[in-house]
Amino acid sequence: MRKVEGLVNTKRKQGNINKEIYGHFSEHLGRCIYEGIFVGEDSDIPNTKGMRNDVVEALKNLDIPVLRWPGGCFADEYHWMDGIGPKESRKCMVNTNWGGVVEDNSFGTHEFFELCSQIGCEPYINGNVGSGTVQEMSEWIEYMTFDGESPMANKRAQNGRKEPWKLKYFGVGNENWGCGGNMTPEYYANTYRRFQTFCKNYGDNKLYKIACGPNADDYEWTDKLMSIIGSNFADAISMHYYTVPCGWEKKDTATGFDEKRYYETIESTLRIEEMIDRHLEIMGKYDPEHKVKLVVDEWGTWYQVEEGTNPGFLYQQNTMRDAMVAALNLNIFNRRCDRIDMANIAQVVNVLQAVVLTEGAKIVKTPTYYVFEMYKRHQGATLVDCYLDVPKEECEGYTVPLVSSSASVNEAGELTVTLANVSLSEEIECQMDVVGSYGAVTGTMLTGNMGDFNTFEKDDVVKPQAFTGASLADGALTAKLPPCSVVTLVLK
Ligand code: AHR
Repeated sequence: MRKVEGLVNTKRKQGNINKEIYGHFSEHLGRCIYEGIFVGEDSDIPNTKGMRNDVVEALKNLDIPVLRWPGGCFADEYHWMDGIGPKESRKCMVNTNWGGVVEDNSFGTHEFFELCSQIGCEPYINGNVGSGTVQEMSEWIEYMTFDGESPMANKRAQNGRKEPWKLKYFGVGNENWGCGGNMTPEYYANTYRRFQTFCKNYGDNKLYKIACGPNADDYEWTDKLMSIIGSNFADAISMHYYTVPCGWEKKDTATGFDEKRYYETIESTLRIEEMIDRHLEIMGKYDPEHKVKLVVDEWGTWYQVEEGTNPGFLYQQNTMRDAMVAALNLNIFNRRCDRIDMANIAQVVNVLQAVVLTEGAKIVKTPTYYVFEMYKRHQGATLVDCYLDVPKEECEGYTVPLVSSSASVNEAGELTVTLANVSLSEEIECQMDVVGSYGAVTGTMLTGNMGDFNTFEKDDVVKPQAFTGASLADGALTAKLPPCSVVTLVLK
């Protein structure tokens, strides 16, 4: 068994792990909203005001802090007024990005806030820059947040909601370098400055404005954008990075892959770390005080769709490989919590790296779900120094560090250490000196073969189990991580 040494120093506090790093994303795409979340009040599937009870329950259990909506690419063709008022008179549209299906707008602004209130999370709304107007965006914010008499607040009251909602997170466009208008960075940056001017703070509602940031390693976008918006017009810029083994043209299958593809996926997902650091460095040139944060509001794996499903619906299975991807990314985001305010895995139900899948009345939790469950103790906790002297290995032609880690201390003083062993063949013993007073360690583990996944027929192939491979004595923490495993340790 290989041994690696390290240190967890609870005296070296690195900042607050914003709970929004554990955020999710819901788009009018495939069976995410319709079927996956919203089935309507008349459905046989148990629901509350149209929202599936089983899905809401599962998401509540994750303590989901924030949910992004309505897109994605859909956001820049969404006209919010089509989604309010009596359902029978709501205008239909064609969802051109995602399968060309008819969108009946039965899930709109009121339904989204209802969903967030049932889950108990913050709403994050993404406005339309690509095909929308400044007036439309400005009126949406007035509709949602104005308290008192105003044309939009009155309209809201007519539609059954007298009180304004609280809305913090607001995105001004999505992927405006692509589906959101194919803009140049200069054009978008100036457009952003204009649109955001009319995103007003009404009463005590204070918007946190998010500008469209880069795609993956497009550093030029970040540079030009930041040079024009500077540090006074946005609270954050967004970044998107998908892990796409075999590349965009071909894409890997979600299941039935080999070890080469597994390690390619791991290497590819870890590239996000360098991208984040380089984007942050560029942002710092124009914002030395780091007032503008980074939000990674789309991340996760993207494979071929499951056979026989609509190619525009992006429905894919989810294996232990995805669990590893989730664990690695969340450890990276934790470690950058001083500058990353939010991250949103794509997407919450039935699309890409979903935490739950549904089929009719059935639901299944994916391996990715369990990683979010095992990591939720990090939400809002204080990041502390966690170092492991991890070797980089050449595996099937890909170079990967074998163990990923992060650690935090919560308000009760409990230390949480999350570890992931990406090796498919080696058990790894982590020996860490712990600075801090702790008497006992308990653990939870997710492990299996790289291709294991849960199905509607057998939903417990991959599920967390008690971890008995850890010990704590005289400030020395030892954890024996099986191959392909994610482990959460709690020290009290
Ligand atoms: O998550 C699916 C799509 O990926 C989103 O709509 C878009 O923003 C991105 O390209």
